[in-house]
Amino acid sequence: MPSMNALPPTSKSSPDGSVKKAPVLHWGFFVLWLLLLPVAHAEGQPPAAAIASAHPAASKAGMEILQAGGNAFDAAVTVSAVLAVVEPYSSGLGGGGFWLLHRASDGKEVMIDGRETAPLAATRDMYLDSRGQPVARASIDGPLAAGIPGTVAALAHISKHYGRLPLKQSLLPAIRLAKEGFAVNEHYRRMAAFRIDALRASKSAAQQFLKAGEVPPLGHIIRQNDLANTLQTIAEQGRQGFYAGKLAQQMVQAVRTHGGIWSEKDLLAYQVRERKPLVGHYRGWRVVSAALPSSGGVVLLEMLNMLALRDIDSMAEADRIHYLVEVMRRAYRDRARWLGDADFVDIPLKRLLSKEYARQLFASISMQKATPSQSLAGFKPAGRDTTHFSILDKQGNRVAATLSINYPFGSGFVAAGTGVLLNDEMDDFSIKPGVANVYGLVGAEANAIEPGKRMLSSMSPTFLDSEHGVAILGTPGGSRIITMVLLGLLQAVEGNTVGQWVSQPRFHHQYLPDEIQVEPGAFSEKLQQELKQRGHRLSIKERPWGNMQALYWNRKDNEVEVASDPRGGGLAIKSAK
Ligand code: DON
Repeated sequence: MPSMNALPPTSKSSPDGSVKKAPVLHWGFFVLWLLLLPVAHAEGQPPAAAIASAHPAASKAGMEILQAGGNAFDAAVTVSAVLAVVEPYSSGLGGGGFWLLHRASDGKEVMIDGRETAPLAATRDMYLDSRGQPVARASIDGPLAAGIPGTVAALAHISKHYGRLPLKQSLLPAIRLAKEGFAVNEHYRRMAAFRIDALRASKSAAQQFLKAGEVPPLGHIIRQNDLANTLQTIAEQGRQGFYAGKLAQQMVQAVRTHGGIWSEKDLLAYQVRERKPLVGHYRGWRVVSAALPSSGGVVLLEMLNMLALRDIDSMAEADRIHYLVEVMRRAYRDRARWLGDADFVDIPLKRLLSKEYARQLFASISMQKATPSQSLAGFKPAGRDTTHFSILDKQGNRVAATLSINYPFGSGFVAAGTGVLLNDEMDDFSIKPGVANVYGLVGAEANAIEPGKRMLSSMSPTFLDSEHGVAILGTPGGSRIITMVLLGLLQAVEGNTVGQWVSQPRFHHQYLPDEIQVEPGAFSEKLQQELKQRGHRLSIKERPWGNMQALYWNRKDNEVEVASDPRGGGLAIKSAK
């Protein structure tokens, strides 16, 4: 396979073993370094706290928690929980996510991995029929599509290990909003219409999210008393309240009655993981992004490694877009070919992220002609919702979090009596090599289903850091998440405003389908012609995509700038100085 051959050999540690024989002097330096660590991490403090999230109620609740003495991590718990209530089509207690944290006091950076896992009874071919063909919608609708949720375990973990306030206090705004209700807006109506069949198929979901089986009218108030009780139980009992006892029994029973395969053991066994974020460098900026099982960091750093080999600023527009597309194509090819849950499969991460590999890929790019994806293929292809928020507190603690239940309204299934809407994240596995998921992504062996395994994600919460400042960004958008973060990052590096990062027109290439996806109005006629002449296929989409929430702490001017994507209905707010 060309993709395999293209990889350079794994670099081995020094054959003479000299690395291990560190002289005593080095230990002395190491101890000194440890002693100086707190000083080294005196990062200064931002003049204001800031939050950008996809819903005004969540941003406001997060700010209230900061004002009540909480830190960015408490605010992250609050914002996540409120979004679970007011953005049920995007994320929730029945889903998962990644929370990228930076603690100012010691500079610790960690990714809290609350990604869903495949149930223990899951099998590799569980979404295929007896002839080995995918069963339509089996990994998308109903409880068979649901992975074991991780959000509640992650929130309890963040609160306990990083927060200042008790979980009970951080969950209060969400409990209040679940009881009081929120008003249906246009976006809610569009999402509910899109998933109406799945929602109608679940009696509890229909009661919670529809009105007499129809999309509720604008302004209709969605009250979720079962969800309020579930949140209250979690507030009182912590993660145990969700993963054991009555709630766990109710969820398992509902899932099994409707064709799912969860067991109580699955819930008890769920573990949140602390992962070391991936770190790379691009034009003087330190880039910190999601670790596996998100493909985000790997794909982003691979793209940046290739981009660093040319001066993209001095390129003509068509050259720049062409080059970016070729870079995207190659990195997404590697995503499809190599990536999955590193706890289950060996992934040649070092090689994929090496400068030497970037040079090899770079050498295969022609500036005159598009490389057909098929010529790179490692296998034969067959045939909003999610959410992000960014937080900075006045101490300089940072959170970038992207959370999901996958498709709008997840699997559409609510476990009776719990108010918990289950995800359909199982569709992020490669249900058959080369078969595309709902985002058109293909995958291979590395992302095949296995009991307890985490499905590969594209969610890419990201920090940038340099002497100039600190950026926090991310977005929903399925397979397009990583290219949106790339485009946002390039804007940041070029010194544009946060408003520009989140609003710029977007384009995307993901290897397969072999086409440049373009937001309406993003490319001029002339640019389209120039790209077509180089052999690119263009797919101009009807609707724009993404919902980026970003902020920037400009260290030089000591200013904080925060912005919410104009495509969504979010809110970016700042505290008083
Ligand atoms: O984890 C992932 O990559 C997907 N489940 C994210 C889905 C998503 O962003 C949908 N949003 N539009």
